Amino acid sequence: MLQKLAQIEEEALAALANIQDEAALEAWRIANMGRSAPVMSVFSQMGALSKEERPLVGQRANQVKLAIESAFAQKAEEVKQAALQKSLASERLDVTLPGRPLRQGRLHPATQNLRRILSILGEMGFQVYTSREVESDEYNFQLLNIPPYHPAREMQDTFYIETGVTEEAERQVLRTHTSPGQIRAMRQFAAENPPNPPEIRIALPGMVYRFEQITSRSEVQFNQVEGLVVGKNITFGDLKGTLAEFVRRMFGRSAKTRFRASYFPFTEPSAEMDVECFVCGGKGCGVCKKSGWLEILGCGMVHPTVLQNGGYDPAVYSGFAFGMGPERQLMLRHKITDIRYLWGNDMRFLEQF
Ligand code: DAH
Repeated sequence: MLQKLAQIEEEALAALANIQDEAALEAWRIANMGRSAPVMSVFSQMGALSKEERPLVGQRANQVKLAIESAFAQKAEEVKQAALQKSLASERLDVTLPGRPLRQGRLHPATQNLRRILSILGEMGFQVYTSREVESDEYNFQLLNIPPYHPAREMQDTFYIETGVTEEAERQVLRTHTSPGQIRAMRQFAAENPPNPPEIRIALPGMVYRFEQITSRSEVQFNQVEGLVVGKNITFGDLKGTLAEFVRRMFGRSAKTRFRASYFPFTEPSAEMDVECFVCGGKGCGVCKKSGWLEILGCGMVHPTVLQNGGYDPAVYSGFAFGMGPERQLMLRHKITDIRYLWGNDMRFLEQF
């Protein structure tokens, strides 16, 4: 019996020594530590032994059982470590490598600039009013005091839309400026509040279109921001104060402005506002063409005919309006020399903003 136990131990440990992986180890465990393991059969044969032999064999059998169990525990740990080393080697990941950079999205510079203008006007009490991009000749021109064959139409070469309509006023155009929104807004507010139309302080942003040769200085589309203020006792002083304050908020507290007399059919009197050149500080440079000033918007007191067309009685109401080109301001501010960069969608340009 003792000899048999020695043999059981020797064979089990020899088999264990050759095991490399977890599947073989499990099979070995069942064969040598399970209910039908050889050492267990020794226990069941104890009854046949003499009284003297029994304690000796029992003690020895327990030793063998423990030896097998502890050898198994040790082997199990070895196999586990080997599996871990193997997976570490094959799934190696260098956590010190720098990550792939994420490209950050951004708003188009023209959108950023437009939002800035609208937020400044918003602080000054202007609400945004959006109007249509496809207009009738009547709204784009006639109601703004620009009758057919008026020479001012040549300032704004027009895209006409083919609709088959021949009636002049009903011809459809891509709006050449945001000014027709003035009429749309006034008519809406007047219609909603008879007989006393409310006061107005709105900004009208949006794309306008002109049938022009595309060059470094002109594009067929660009944004405008129109302003319209209508009320009782609105004066040219309000116009000057409001626009000068807008410029200070937009270009800095020390920005100087000046007004020059001008002409627009829908305002009387009309003016253009210049801001002191922010590139050279007024000394004269290439950007301001040595004048020290940059023209940034047109403005004026709303023409009585335009108020009338909007449903506001010019005997009771007065107002001022202005129109500016945000892209032009953007180009001046960043010294962008070619307007085609703006809609060219070249990432090398756009990523600079
Ligand atoms: N609509 C004019 C243009 O596109 C700009 C303009 C000038 C708008 C004077 C106005 C204004 O409201 O009062 O050239």
